Amino acid sequence: MPRPRLLERYRDLLPVTPHTPIFSLGEGDTPLVRSHRLEKEVGCGELYFKTEGCNPTGSFKDRGMVVAVAKALEAGTRALVCASTGNTSASAAAYGANRGVKVVVLVPRGNIALAKLAQALGMGAQVMPVEGNFDQALEIVRALAKRHPVTLVNSINPHRIQGQMTAAYEVVDELGDAPDYLFIPVGNAGNITAYWRGFKEYHKRGQAKQTPKMMGFQAEGAAPIVQGHVVENPQTVASAIRIGNPASWQAALAARDESEGTIEAVSDQAILEAHGLLGIWEGIFGETASAASVAGLLKLVHAGLDLSGKRVVCVITGSGLKDSEVTLDRTGELPRYPLQVTAIEAALGWA
Ligand code: F0G
Repeated sequence: MPRPRLLERYRDLLPVTPHTPIFSLGEGDTPLVRSHRLEKEVGCGELYFKTEGCNPTGSFKDRGMVVAVAKALEAGTRALVCASTGNTSASAAAYGANRGVKVVVLVPRGNIALAKLAQALGMGAQVMPVEGNFDQALEIVRALAKRHPVTLVNSINPHRIQGQMTAAYEVVDELGDAPDYLFIPVGNAGNITAYWRGFKEYHKRGQAKQTPKMMGFQAEGAAPIVQGHVVENPQTVASAIRIGNPASWQAALAARDESEGTIEAVSDQAILEAHGLLGIWEGIFGETASAASVAGLLKLVHAGLDLSGKRVVCVITGSGLKDSEVTLDRTGELPRYPLQVTAIEAALGWA
């Protein structure tokens, strides 16, 4: 028997009606991987990584997209539209193609990772690079969705958030309770909002005894929530979270305050270092932006946060294959070797 997928598994917790089409590209049910080394380094009881890069298009967006597209079809939409730093567009392209619906995506020209652009194009979306940043592109698609019978599939669409709440359900289902802390990157702030709502929902239903402290991390050059004002020209190496005016800003503040957590900034250098550690120590190749959660964990522990005996989950929101150019920039150019056993041995010090 095939495994029940997201729309079936969490049917009672999702806005699924008898008229909602049920389909799947294999989203959800992603691994919760126990840390091998970082856990000891930060001195916590248990550390897990929720590896969302294992979703069909390589990021957590698929959880929300399957719900948003199902509801859009139920309502008789003509097309799906979104603005994106890349992952939302890849996900919209996949689910739109699978259901035979037109997909239009606006992306900041020259500023999204190539693999994500290839995904959207390869799955037949109409990709429209615009001269502007994500926040400006989002304004345009909001206007389009008001003027035409099309569905906006950014995370301002409540069905996206409802779908993404399933990640919190999975964590609790697997651990038997909510963790003490959840570390997560923050861009447009939909995902931190969704996890928090998911944990609260499970707690309300008695599925979890506690809720976690929500620990969100923005990149220093794109940290509007931390600074308390819109950032007109956001800059960071982590292009997925290069966002200066998050749509779910208020909901992210609520998640932070209700959970007694925090939202802080991490430098690009800290993100790149954490990205390297995640790969080299744990064998998890995450997207650059995903490493903001690990950078945040290291930052707070170095600043004195005591996690002894605590259960901690870091969300690794996307796959490192998405923006591998950033990794290659970090690792640098490789030397060339002659095609000879003895030369390779000599280079390895195995001679
Ligand atoms: N990590 C990755 C890999 C992302 O693609 C995003 C957002 C985030 C974290 C931040 O999540 O926006 O819910 O706070 N990517 C969006 C996109 C904006 O267009 O693909 P958030």
